[in-house]
Amino acid sequence: MKTQVAIIGGGPAGLLLSEILHSHGVSSVVLEKSSREHVLSRIRAGVLEQTTVDVLRAHGLADRLDREGHVHDGMKIVWAGRESYFIDVAKHVGKRFTTYGQTKIQEDLFAAADRRNATVLTEVEDVQLIDVSSNHPCVTFTHHGESLRLDCDFIAGCDGFHGVSRQAIPPTVLREFEKVYPFGWLGVLSPTPPLPDIVYANHPRGFALASARSPTLSRYYIQVPLDTHIEDWPDERFWSELKARFPRELADAIVTGSSIEKSIAPLRSYVAEPMQHGRLFLAGDAAHIVPPTGAKGLNLAVSDVTYLARALAAYYAKGSTQQLDGYSEVALRRVWSSVRVSWYLTTLLHRFPGASDFDQRAQEYELEYLKSSYHAQVALAEQYAGLPI
Ligand code: APR
Ligand code: PHB
Repeated sequence: MKTQVAIIGGGPAGLLLSEILHSHGVSSVVLEKSSREHVLSRIRAGVLEQTTVDVLRAHGLADRLDREGHVHDGMKIVWAGRESYFIDVAKHVGKRFTTYGQTKIQEDLFAAADRRNATVLTEVEDVQLIDVSSNHPCVTFTHHGESLRLDCDFIAGCDGFHGVSRQAIPPTVLREFEKVYPFGWLGVLSPTPPLPDIVYANHPRGFALASARSPTLSRYYIQVPLDTHIEDWPDERFWSELKARFPRELADAIVTGSSIEKSIAPLRSYVAEPMQHGRLFLAGDAAHIVPPTGAKGLNLAVSDVTYLARALAAYYAKGSTQQLDGYSEVALRRVWSSVRVSWYLTTLLHRFPGASDFDQRAQEYELEYLKSSYHAQVALAEQYAGLPI
């Protein structure tokens, strides 16, 4: 097989890259390890920066998003025993954000790929990247028992944190930055009306978050120890723990019900530098992971592929490698901005096991400062809204 860009991974990064490349007349083949059903069953964060919405709109991918997404002006921060405060992102920086599940984006991207008869091979096995530092890289893999080779000009590694692409960068070149947090999030998706705002809660029992997927679908999370077993968390226990972490009026407003999905995710910050090597370019979770506090993961995948598609389009239109050469440097600026704010929010809002009295007081005064300082709120609003591309 032959194509211009071999894309490894059919998550949001891979499928969106393929879509944008197509709009520039650049061909690609997407190789995805899992089945489409499996990819569509993954429940992930669901907050889209305005920039992300703009990119999806510009590529004709936002019809359903515009109909079903819920637009928010800001988010609330609550803190045990104190008044809640609203970080008014729209007022401070003139940007809004939208709750719309990543699952729906994934569906919209598959539908767009089907409409243009894109080559998206699912259930591929044993993907290997060959000669990434030469001008003629290729990818070998197995599909339905057949061994195949895909010749290409470039490889885009969009295969998530556990993918194979990043490993094709020699260890002498790759620098890794990592922070592992000593807790995880237990998330529940429930067919119940959500609270009107996204609410982040800091409580002595641990962090909690109220979010939404639609007017009839709510998404909640609580901080849990890393050794937590999901079987120990029947719905009733989850709801009572969730409510215990919100102030009375919010706890009373939470509508409980059955859970459709329940999962535990560890929290981690990770960045691989550089995001490119020879003719291999990493995008999305393949290159970086952020803790979900701030919901930046998907938004970074979108900005990475926007830069990458632009650079590849410039190469095919004008033969210029300037943007490709600068891809990692440009993408990393936005990556580190989001890595920083998600680390900040994680540190601000969670209870860290073993935190000293000093750490605890410093966190309380940081929350106090944020509550009382207009400038601190503007700064957080700017970072929460995300940098422009
Ligand atoms: N070969 C082919 N495909 C692979 C391989 C492999 N060896 N390894 C992983 N994949 C596929 C996965 O099955 C997955 O569908 O790559 C895809 C990567 O998708 P995501 O993990 O969703 O990553 P990305 O597209 O970068 O999207 C980032 O996902 O994890 C969230 O919070 C993150 O919202 C962000 C978004
Ligand atoms: C979500 O809706 O899943 C969500 C919202 C906000 C976050 C993280 C996740 O910070």
